[in-house]
Amino acid sequence: MCGIIGYTGEGNAVPKMTKGLTVLEYRGYDSVGIAAETEDAIEVVKCKGRITSLEEKLEKHPIEGAHCAIGHTRWATHGGPSDVNAHPHKAGNVVLVHNGIIENYKELKDELSKTGTPFLSETDTEVAAATLNACYRPGSDPVKAIREATAKMKGSYAFGILFVDLPGEIYAIRQGSPLILAKGEDGYYLASDMTALLPFTKTYYPLKEGQIAHLTPDSGTLVAGDGRVFEPQWKKTEMTPESAQKGGYEHFMLKEIYEQPEAIVKSASTRITKDGLPDFSVDGILPDFWKPVKNIQIVACGSAMHAGIVGAKLFEEVAKIPASVYIASEYRYHPPLAVEGTIVIPISQSGETADTLAAMNYAKSKGLPTVAIVNAVETTIAREADHRVYTYAGPEIAVATTKGYCTQVSVLFMMAAAAAHACGRISDDEAKALVQSVVKDAPAAVLSMLEKRDYLRELARGLAGKEHIFYIGRGLDYALSMEAALKLKEISYIHCEAYAAGELKHGTISLIEEGTPVIAISTEKALYDKTESNVREVRSRGAKLILICRADAENPERSADSVIYLPINSLAATLFAAMTAVQTIAYETAYLCGCDIDRPRNLAKSVTVE
Ligand code: AGP
Repeated sequence: MCGIIGYTGEGNAVPKMTKGLTVLEYRGYDSVGIAAETEDAIEVVKCKGRITSLEEKLEKHPIEGAHCAIGHTRWATHGGPSDVNAHPHKAGNVVLVHNGIIENYKELKDELSKTGTPFLSETDTEVAAATLNACYRPGSDPVKAIREATAKMKGSYAFGILFVDLPGEIYAIRQGSPLILAKGEDGYYLASDMTALLPFTKTYYPLKEGQIAHLTPDSGTLVAGDGRVFEPQWKKTEMTPESAQKGGYEHFMLKEIYEQPEAIVKSASTRITKDGLPDFSVDGILPDFWKPVKNIQIVACGSAMHAGIVGAKLFEEVAKIPASVYIASEYRYHPPLAVEGTIVIPISQSGETADTLAAMNYAKSKGLPTVAIVNAVETTIAREADHRVYTYAGPEIAVATTKGYCTQVSVLFMMAAAAAHACGRISDDEAKALVQSVVKDAPAAVLSMLEKRDYLRELARGLAGKEHIFYIGRGLDYALSMEAALKLKEISYIHCEAYAAGELKHGTISLIEEGTPVIAISTEKALYDKTESNVREVRSRGAKLILICRADAENPERSADSVIYLPINSLAATLFAAMTAVQTIAYETAYLCGCDIDRPRNLAKSVTVE
């Protein structure tokens, strides 16, 4: 997944590119480049490395007086990180930047090579540029050429395109990858997402699938399939540059952990009736929607999938509706049987995860209703679902999700309560109590756990530098353990596995050595004794045991080297406190390891390739 940006207008284009690309680095940062129009030519400056590497090059070779440019920050797919594989790519009269994957690029490359077209890089993007160049002649219709070229391509793309003979003009098209247009005081912009354009404007338009945009210094228009040119329906974003900045925290991840209490309230507050009952009418989901629902399939990736596992348990335990969770990249290749009354709930923070989008589209192709839980508004999954429920967590910049995951769980709590109440499985009072546990207990629980951050940092000292760490738990705690393990390993690079506590003894316990850290999560009172016996099993083999348990656990100190106590006033309070504990442990451990917490190696914030 990559970040693209473009500008044309009366302003100085190059600093706008580097400023916007710095914000977009979370989308991928192994190489970077810009193409800027000067009086004489389109100059391309690109290199392996981060924005700072590009800025160093530009300091040595400044590009003066450019008013039209495109830029790109890359997360390598075809062809490793290198200067030559960095975007933009030039082919004849075409210079372009690309986010996505051209799946049939080899066939296209072979066809073009037969005509003597030279290729310098290993990328699919250079093939896309050459394919477009082959369809375009200076003076011919660029829109026609774009349609002809993209008709040959299979896969996903968001292109920002310059034509050598059309100075000051940028063309753009998207299919399967996000692209935003924007209108500023001094010209027109495009970018992979709005956070990159907040320093310049709040007026934007999310380009729709297959739409072609044409930007000039004085206009930003769309070109319909029949050639009709029309003005986009511009929107105003509520985001501010500050909301996309760190707000005084050392890392975006820490800022976003502390934003969770407010995010939880925002995710729920528009879904409560004046009587305090759960209600998703604002999302177009009326109580009657739930009555015919006999089965729920949740599809997602990574942390979103982990949130889905918590949600599935809530749907089953609170609403008594069978619910299962599927890894999105597996779903359409091994589709589950869909019984009458099945609905599908895709969950995605970014709303652009290709695996989740593909799973949702498969479900739609089978006629299954889709209710997407998404954070980033106006994104592809949000737009293409039958219903979308936004989590309203605000921009999440850190690659490791925290408030995104946490608000997914809070929305699932509310949804399970709404479904249960609509189907008459819980009373008004029980539904109101669940709502209050989300909007009152959960935010308080997050805050109270964050007050223990010094203690959690001390515990992290015993984790930093270790080679293997295990999280164990039963039921909901196993689901939490999965998210805890992912958080820890993705930002500290320590191997960390989640295990169903009762399963460890069936093999994996052989990995427990003297001093191996094991973190046991025990939020469910009924399972405490069972989990405690698993804790004793690993401790007797030398494990260093951290126990995250309810405040009413009996003598937890006898089973653990360290104990983190959780509130017990409601299930939500207990769960959200545990979530915050494991997020903070991951953050503090990665900090002690000196890792790049917001941009961990090899990762990207949203994986828009399958
Ligand atoms: C979580 O910290 C990771 N960044 C990753 O697992 C992420 O949750 C996954 O890629 C799904 O992303 P999405 O929610 O944007 O679809």
